[in-house]
Formats: sequence, structure tokens, C-alpha cells
Amino acid sequence: PEAITIQELANRMSERAVDVIRLLMKQGAMHKITDVIDADTAQLIAEELGHTVKRVAASDVEEGLFDIVDDSTDTETRSPVVTVMGHVDHGKTSLLDALRHANVVSGEAGGITQHIGAYQVVSPESGKKITFIDTPGHAAFTAMRARGAKVTDIVVLVVAADDGVMPQTVEAINHAKAARVPIIVAINKIDKPDAKPERVRTELLQHEVQVESFGGDVVDVEVSAKNKTNLDKLLEMIALQAEILDLKTNSQRPAEGTVIEAKLDRGRGPVATVLVQRGTLRVGDIIVAGAEMGRVRALISDQGETVQEAGPSVPVEVLGFNGPPEAGDRLAVVENEARARQVTSYRAHQKRENAAASISGMRGSLEQMMS
Ligand code: GTP
Ligand code: MG
Repeated sequence: PEAITIQELANRMSERAVDVIRLLMKQGAMHKITDVIDADTAQLIAEELGHTVKRVAASDVEEGLFDIVDDSTDTETRSPVVTVMGHVDHGKTSLLDALRHANVVSGEAGGITQHIGAYQVVSPESGKKITFIDTPGHAAFTAMRARGAKVTDIVVLVVAADDGVMPQTVEAINHAKAARVPIIVAINKIDKPDAKPERVRTELLQHEVQVESFGGDVVDVEVSAKNKTNLDKLLEMIALQAEILDLKTNSQRPAEGTVIEAKLDRGRGPVATVLVQRGTLRVGDIIVAGAEMGRVRALISDQGETVQEAGPSVPVEVLGFNGPPEAGDRLAVVENEARARQVTSYRAHQKRENAAASISGMRGSLEQMMS
């Protein structure tokens, strides 16, 4: 529903808000300056004040930004994007560290993951790449899903064999099911003397995750991030699942992707971690994400290296946004800055209107409560 506050309408016409209110009063409606009126009423008022009105529809502005519907040119195979989920301390980051021969855990404050990491791992067997996303809890994943962003092809559910299925394990299962993403279970910490992998399988059954040995179709792998046990097998199972999913893309087009996280860095300015999903993102590209725009100044790989471009399923840090976008925002490359400005100013305006509308809605209900 398109709507505008009286203040904003007056501002855009360079008229006084009281004059708008007076006109509305003539039509029999009492309004405050902060009230929201619908687009039709706003148009009537504007015309009465001698202005011509040009209404811009979302479909005009957003037109052609994303080729979501047309995937007929997606003929190249792309790497799977795997989100690692599970209860706190069950070993998500350790497992990823082991897979990529790195050590992120020891650098984390209190051993707790604070922000999202996105990495590519090359399978030693097949030489194929897998993109992994490490999540702090599920807040980020939830936020992205709530905004309709689909970034994950497969969920690796990490369950510590000595601890079993815990509340966040169940949350992760529910997320994966709601998003219709296949689960691969990594039963971790099997090196521990009190590890009970069979108990984990039984507990999973209670949450409708039926592993193969129980007659289901969910693959499970017993691993130890500590001793690097069965990591090849886990990679192999992911590769197999990816083959079944038959993931396709087109790298020969302007990039489309999703913002995984973004922040304002003191030295580098706005920095966004972006997962490129189609096309190729290049230095110099003009980009929009949510209500932010920019020109790609630098791209930094998961290895911390400066790169000139990033193709499908590749996570990169993007420098050059005018402000940090939000997690879950879709990124698109546009032809020129004028187009970028058109899109982002429309979205920024839309955002303000929505905020104003929800505030005035709140006020309305407060008043109802008072009377
Ligand atoms: P959050 O990011 O806080 O949710 O935790 P996480 O799931 O990333 O767990 P993390 O990798 O930080 O590991 C938690 C603890 O478990 C650390 O002390 C690890 O050393 C330990 N750990 C992880 N994997 C294993 C394993 O395979 N065996 C043993 N014995 N300990 C492990
Ligand atoms: Mg972690």
C-alpha cells in the first residue's frame, strides 16, 4: 500500500504542511502533520495545490534488476553453498577450520563466533570447490530467511556426540526444513570418550531427521574436528548432495548476489560480505544493495587477497559502498550511477514511508488504548 506522511508530501511540493491539513479538513478529515495519507488522497491534494503528479511504481524502478525468473541461460555448474549450523560450542567453527586448514577458533573472543565467516574449500579428492558459511547462532540466518534471501543449498548440522541434540540443534533443523534445504548431519567430537553417536541418531529421529541407518534418507558422518577424522568423507557427501541438486548458474552476466553481513569499518569504510550467486562481480562495477549504492573499489577473497573479480558461489568482501547495506539485501550491478541513484533513492524513500506508517499505526493504537 502506497502512502505518504503529510509532512513528506508538503516537503516534496515545497508547500506548508498546514495548507495540506487545511485542504484535508475541507474534505472533512482531521489530520496531524505526522499522519499518513494514501497515495490517491495525496494526489488529489497535490493537484488542488496546482502540482502535477507523477507516481512511480515499484515495478518501474525495480524492473530488470534481477533476472530471478529467467534462468534459461543458467547452464554452468556452480559450487554448492553450505551453511554450517548447530548448537553453541558443538564445533562448527572448529570443523570449518579443520576443513580449510585454518585456525579461526583460537582468535575468537571467548571461542564464540561473533560474525559470519564465508570460505571456499577445495575438496582434495575431486578438486571441486565448496562454499561454507559459518553462522553465529542462527540470528543472521533467520534475518536473511525472513527477508526472502536464499543463499544456502545444503545445511551441515553439527551435533556434538557427547552433548546430543540441544535447543539450537532443533532450531537449525526447523530452519533447514522451512527453507527446504537438505541436511547433512556431522556428528562431531567422536574422539571424546563419552561420545555417543548412536544416541544422537535416536534423538534426531524425535525431530523427524531420519538418518540412513534408521531407514531414512539423511546422510550422517561421524567426524572429529580435533583429530581431523572423516573430513574427506564429509566433503564427499556434500559433493554428492550437490550433484543431486544439479546447481546451475551463468557467470557471463552482471553480478547478482546477497549481502551476508555488512559493517562500517573505521579504516576501510562500509564493508559488505557478499555471496555472488550469478554473473561476475568486478572492480569498478556500479552496485546497489537495499537502499545503498556504490562503485566496487576493491574485492577481497576469503584468503584475504585482493582480487579483480568474483564469480558464482564465491564469497567476497566488497569495498566501495556509500553506506553499509543490511544482511539479506540483494546485490545487483546496474548500468550507471544515475540508475543506481534512482533505485536507492526510491528504496530509501519507501523505507522512510514504511517506518512512518508503522509509527503512526502505533500511535493510532495508543490513542485507542487511551480513549
Ligand atoms: P559457537 O560459534 O560459539 O556457536 O561455537 P562452535 O560451534 O563454532 O564451536 P567451536 O568450534 O568454537 O568449538 C567449541 C569447543 O569444542 C572448542 O573448545 C573446541 O576446541 C571443541 N571441539 C570442537 N570440535 C571438537 C572435536 O572434534 N573434539 C573435541 N574433543 N573437541 C572439539
Ligand atoms: Mg563458532
